[in-house]
Amino acid sequence: MEILGIESSCDETAAAIYTDDGLQSNIIASQAVHEQYGGVVPELASRAHHKTIWHTVQQALDEGSTSLEEIDAVAVTQGPGLMGSLLVGLCFAKGLCLSRNIPLVGVNHMDAHIYANFIDEQPEYPFVSLTVSGGHTQLVYVSAPFEHELLGQTRDDAAGEAYDKIGKILGLPYPAGPVIDERSEHGDPNFHDFPQAMLDNDFEFSFSGLKTSVKYFLEDQDDQEQFLEDHLDDICASVSHAITEVLVKKLRNAIEHTGVKTIALAGGVSANSMLRKKANELASDTGCELHIPQLAYCTDNAAMIAITGYMMAEREMYADMNLRPFANLKQVLSQK
Ligand code: KG4
Ligand code: ZN
Repeated sequence: MEILGIESSCDETAAAIYTDDGLQSNIIASQAVHEQYGGVVPELASRAHHKTIWHTVQQALDEGSTSLEEIDAVAVTQGPGLMGSLLVGLCFAKGLCLSRNIPLVGVNHMDAHIYANFIDEQPEYPFVSLTVSGGHTQLVYVSAPFEHELLGQTRDDAAGEAYDKIGKILGLPYPAGPVIDERSEHGDPNFHDFPQAMLDNDFEFSFSGLKTSVKYFLEDQDDQEQFLEDHLDDICASVSHAITEVLVKKLRNAIEHTGVKTIALAGGVSANSMLRKKANELASDTGCELHIPQLAYCTDNAAMIAITGYMMAEREMYADMNLRPFANLKQVLSQK
């Protein structure tokens, strides 16, 4: 079986081929147009997807040494994401399926982040996934393929969103997560004690207070500019410390609550080096097996859509041509 995966939920146009022999290609066209605005501009994102999608898919087919004629099904991100961006991928995928008379698979982007862990490894069920991206922060209990129980999630900002918003306050480019990560390596994580919110709650998160606390901390300094120049790395390390401590403490709660022996990280923030290190320590401390996707499969990509589509196709979890995109997870639950 050969699956073409297409991802267009935000600002990456991506396509990948996954077959019985594993991942064959993984192409990403990132949209540079948003950098100047310090965040993703939805209208520009959908236009850029529209311009790039055909070329990206063609490249994925070429690098995967295959052709449209050999593809057995097309998997596409159904949501959550930006409506205009999702529509470009979805319409393109439907067009391919109709022209070739092959099935369509609608993939939940957050599920795909979790199943990215299966590209290189075979995590054992049941496991708990800490899924941390720019839009979501979730603890998910996965008892079997596509059997998910949401243990808890953020009540406000996602972890990645916290990194990006704090980065903006610190004058760093978007997305700030990777920049803060890199600077953290040269700073002191105990330089300032930023708040770790909601530690009395087992599985839920709150990150919106952290950015306010960074803002006030900077405003309290006599010479903000000089202070930032002297201590930017220390502030980055302290922010990363606060975020990753909360994430790992709640992951520990989830291990204790469910009794799992396997844990996984997923989503863009799982690329974070401090989080990866602390999750490794947690795993050896609790005797759990830890899975983390390689860096290229942590942030948005189509390989995760293609493998999830493959796993869904194996179970004949096909969609019909009325498949509609959904912007957020609440919407998909209410549609069921
Ligand atoms: O999963 P993803 O690519 O897109 C969404 O589904 O949202 O996650 C993007 C998020 C951004 O907020 C970005 O700043 C964050 O992941 N991120 C990181 C790192 N790499 C990406 N955050 C912290 N450390 C990193 N190394
Ligand atoms: Zn994502």
